[in-house]
Amino acid sequence: MNIILLGPPGAGKGTQARHLVETRGMIQLSTGDMLREAKTSGTEMGKKVAEIMDAGKLVTDEIVIGLIEEKLQSEAGAGFIFDGFPRTLAQADALAALLAKLGQSLHTVIEMRVDDEALVKRISGRFTCGNCGEVYHDETKPTKVEGVCDKCGGTEMVRRADDNEESLRTRLMEYYKKTSPLIGYYYAKGDLRPVNGLADIDEVTASIEAILS
Ligand code: AP5
Ligand code: ZN
Repeated sequence: MNIILLGPPGAGKGTQARHLVETRGMIQLSTGDMLREAKTSGTEMGKKVAEIMDAGKLVTDEIVIGLIEEKLQSEAGAGFIFDGFPRTLAQADALAALLAKLGQSLHTVIEMRVDDEALVKRISGRFTCGNCGEVYHDETKPTKVEGVCDKCGGTEMVRRADDNEESLRTRLMEYYKKTSPLIGYYYAKGDLRPVNGLADIDEVTASIEAILS
């Protein structure tokens, strides 16, 4: 089963994807994570990607489609969770073609609906475990012991370079201009299932589980 988690920055895509990985053995394909990895590679491509991401703009379709194609060919499991991909109509068409080439298809597109005010709060309070990638929030999901990851005991907590107000404004603009048309696109295909992303993390998880089972 292959699914897309679609929603604006801070909607909770990464949080829910990690849950599906743990409970269903699915494979999370986050283009954001792949690009953050490329950023640290020190290559020319990495430097270009870093500049674009930190400003909150979208990286070119060519680069992200290339990254996804590589992963689709090399990974296998109980289905893929596309997290933060596709983000443009060109990426959506490329994904359909890549899946068809592998004899696979898309099961569902889960649209995570959250209003803009909540997004700002979520992004400004987010931090991540530098060791295992678990996602936390200062108010809604703090660690049980301050500064120590609940999952792995790691003590290096990271805040993203693009999680500032200016870059978030650009990310939201990019979302509304280039990504939100995908809602209509997948609705017309009959693949779209909306969930209330404003609910508590566990409630959102339950809504997604209900759709998938
Ligand atoms: P990416 O890494 O994909 O970031 P994003 O889409 O902006 O999404 P986020 O990771 O910010 O949010 P999320 O929805 O995963 O929320 P999370 O679960 O962390 O992309 C970054 C950049 O890379 C882009 O700007 C672009 O430059 C580039 N890029 C990536 N993919 C690309 C593509 N396909 N094409 C072109 N460029 C691309 O949750 C947020 C916070 O809220 C956390 O603190 C969490 O604990 C909390 N939270 C989550 N759920 C809830 C809840 N239900 N209630 C309360 N708090 C909650
Ligand atoms: Zn950890």
